[in-house]
Amino acid sequence: MSLPKSDLTKQADGRTTMELGAVLPKTAEVRGGHLFIGSVDMVQLAREQGTALYVFDEADLRDRMEQYREAFHECYPNSEALYASKAFLNKEVLRIAHEEGMFLDVSGGGELACARAVGFPMERVFVHGNNKTEAELREAIGAGVARIVLDTRLELARVSRIAGELGVTQKVLMRITPGVEADTHEYIKTGCEDSKFGFTMLEDFAFKCVGDVMGASNVELVGFHCHIGSQIFALHSFAEAVQVMVEFAARVRDEYGLVIEDLDMGGGLGIAYTVDEQPSSIRDFAECTANAVMEACTEHNLPLPRLLVEPGRSLVANAGVTLYKVGVMKTLPNIRKYVAIDGGMSDNIRTALYDAAYEATIANKADQPRTEIVTLCGKHCESGDAVVLDGSLQRADLDDIVCVFGTGAYCYTMSSSYNGQPRPAIVFVRDGEARVVTRRETYDDLMARDV
Ligand code: LLP
Repeated sequence: MSLPKSDLTKQADGRTTMELGAVLPKTAEVRGGHLFIGSVDMVQLAREQGTALYVFDEADLRDRMEQYREAFHECYPNSEALYASKAFLNKEVLRIAHEEGMFLDVSGGGELACARAVGFPMERVFVHGNNKTEAELREAIGAGVARIVLDTRLELARVSRIAGELGVTQKVLMRITPGVEADTHEYIKTGCEDSKFGFTMLEDFAFKCVGDVMGASNVELVGFHCHIGSQIFALHSFAEAVQVMVEFAARVRDEYGLVIEDLDMGGGLGIAYTVDEQPSSIRDFAECTANAVMEACTEHNLPLPRLLVEPGRSLVANAGVTLYKVGVMKTLPNIRKYVAIDGGMSDNIRTALYDAAYEATIANKADQPRTEIVTLCGKHCESGDAVVLDGSLQRADLDDIVCVFGTGAYCYTMSSSYNGQPRPAIVFVRDGEARVVTRRETYDDLMARDV
């Protein structure tokens, strides 16, 4: 990783920021050497709330939701963006998603329960999962969710029976594996042929199953879904998936006489975790997907379906940061320097799991250049426990507050209490105010379920 020449830059709106471009939350700035987000001093916040601490820039979060809504509505009026709540789940983010006019993707009973708890309208909720349990299906259908996204024929039988028992007709989509190889980490590719998700197109299996779904009682097939993977930079992967899906829908129209209402292209837009990464914008993603659908539908003479997308990461990742306190420094000559912080793989497993890269700064030295290359390691009993591997940082001292950027997605939701580490609190900041929206886990919480 290259060291930036200077870490500070003046923005058009007068803010001074670090030269971290798209990695920073929208309102990040440097004032008097301290990092501020939402006009809140991150150093003071860390001292008040304790560390590790997840902090979200509410303006950034709302702005991205608005960008999705506007970009898709402009490029393709009959479209909706569903927030994929697996990326970051708590009640407040769901309230905000609702206020911002989003639909919602839930992938299990817990996410559904959270949506119900905040009164998220069920007619805007889509339910995913490759092995939804009987109980989860019953909860979802009973709650009146908009769509169940069917993953298998076994699930079709379950949905049909449960809907019958509840006396309703459930609208469903079929999840198809379009065989498109997205350019991303092996573990988060999902659209290729060898996948546990959805109906495979191999041997025309998915196509043959359409008849079964159409013939099932208490179930109405209204469209198709796919999700080719996550953290995708190459927009052409989405366009390719659209072509496959629309061609499939046209064959279904020709042979089964069913014209789909919904085409759900899943999530997956990549974001910048490091200064070197240049992801596509939400607008480019919207234009590319919308154009691909319109072109393919024209080619196959198919009426334009409603277009759905399910962004998770690209809504929340860059809005969130994690604050930690430095407790230990250790230099191994000619090997590396470790800076140990008071969190780690329990609040961010992504580095250990996917070799994820992050940018970090010392919040109380935010005006100083990052002159050292260090490994920001955690406090857990594993050698692989690191949040940043060989990243740039200012020279660290004890009790410095380190801010790791881009941790808003798949960190809190994949957190654990490994080594008995209580999960961090979550604070939303906006216009100089900080509010705790999820309190820190306590030792009592850790033991609360033990009998
Ligand atoms: N829709 C479906 C059906 C999905 O499975 C996912 C993510 C999304 C939408 C949202 O995708 P996004 O826009 O966030 O890329 N834990 C991994 C990511 C796993 C993604 C799982 N599915 C990570 O930390 O990178």
